[in-house]
Amino acid sequence: MAKEKKGVRLEHISKIYQDPKTGKDFYAVHDANINIEPGEFVTLLGPSGCGKTTILRMIAGFESPDEGDIYLGNEAINALTPNKRDTAMVFQSYALLPHYNIFDNVAYGLKLRKLDKQTIKEKVTHILGLVGLEGMEDRMTNQLSGGQQQRVALARALVLEPGVLLFDEPLSNLDAKLRVDMRTEIRRIQQEAGITAVYVTHDQSEAMALSDRIIVMKKGLVDQIGSPKEIYYRPVDEFVADFIGESNFLRGKLAEVDGQAGTVVIEGQRIRVGDVNGHVAGDDVTLVLRPESVHVEDEGVIPCEVTLSRFMGHYQNYQAQCGGHLVKITEFNPKNKKVYEAGARAFINFSSEDVHVL
Ligand SMILES: Nc1ncnc2c1ncn2[C@@H]1O[C@H](COP(=O)(O)OP(=O)(O)OP(=O)(O)O)[C@@H](O)[C@H]1O
Ligand SMILES: [Mg+2]
Repeated sequence: MAKEKKGVRLEHISKIYQDPKTGKDFYAVHDANINIEPGEFVTLLGPSGCGKTTILRMIAGFESPDEGDIYLGNEAINALTPNKRDTAMVFQSYALLPHYNIFDNVAYGLKLRKLDKQTIKEKVTHILGLVGLEGMEDRMTNQLSGGQQQRVALARALVLEPGVLLFDEPLSNLDAKLRVDMRTEIRRIQQEAGITAVYVTHDQSEAMALSDRIIVMKKGLVDQIGSPKEIYYRPVDEFVADFIGESNFLRGKLAEVDGQAGTVVIEGQRIRVGDVNGHVAGDDVTLVLRPESVHVEDEGVIPCEVTLSRFMGHYQNYQAQCGGHLVKITEFNPKNKKVYEAGARAFINFSSEDVHVL
């Protein structure tokens, strides 16, 4: 459906705003370098205020960068107004026209482009089919459920056949169940239409479910760009490790390095790690350990006392005190496994391959 798949490139992009309280300038976005491939689905993820919307608005042309260049395909677009850019945006608030029916809401942008009646009808009908609203052309938008309104907003952006579709938290007004359904729909439609998508959210599971790559932002800075797996298994720092899923951080010293692998001393115990991640012997290191990679067992790498043991149905939730470290543990499918009660003395155990060294 899209005329041409276009990538988006941000080169050394910065945006400076003035803090209304102090009157001081600050970087809302600082030196962002992002290269989005044609047809790729990329999510900007990060806590409130980290600059996600600002980046999206600069791509759309609602804000202009103070430094750097933005490219759509091979074209530098800094100087183009929003309507001259090959982008369309889906907002959190949907921003539908309340006194219009679905057809007119979706057709609005095409009418502005002065397309003929028959072409408009064909395009709108096709898009309404794609978002699952066929036959509902005459319904007024103020008589629709949240999910239906969201589909109209999506159809209205898609019908313009943009090279790049921009989403700013489009699902945050929907209840949890509908959000999961809609995100599956968004991914399906994006792939069917072959459109490049940049999606803003602070919901990490939404980012994981939708994205080819995730851009994790922290205070105006791009902290890490990678596939969901890279971000989860090889976070660049504790911020990413903590923001995406849950993590334990074990502090220790790297005692030996042999090839990629090594031995780290933590709580007086020698622990093998599969990849020292460029560190050298003598370095202070932090082991990132996901709760589902740790097990409570009769024998293991670090002795512990179980301080919390809770049956959660599909998993047993533990906390274990290992010297100075409190370790969170998720033991899936506990039905036929030995369960340790609070107060039990045991060991935590994990595979050297499941440890990520920072
Ligand atoms: N027009 C503006 N003038 C001054 N400061 C602004 C303006 N717009 C945004 N900011 C500030 O810039 C920073 C980044 O804002 P932005 O809206 O990009 O954050 P965000 O990551 O989208 O957050 P959220 O998840 O809450 O939507 C924030 O500190 C915000 O207060
Ligand atoms: Mg925002």
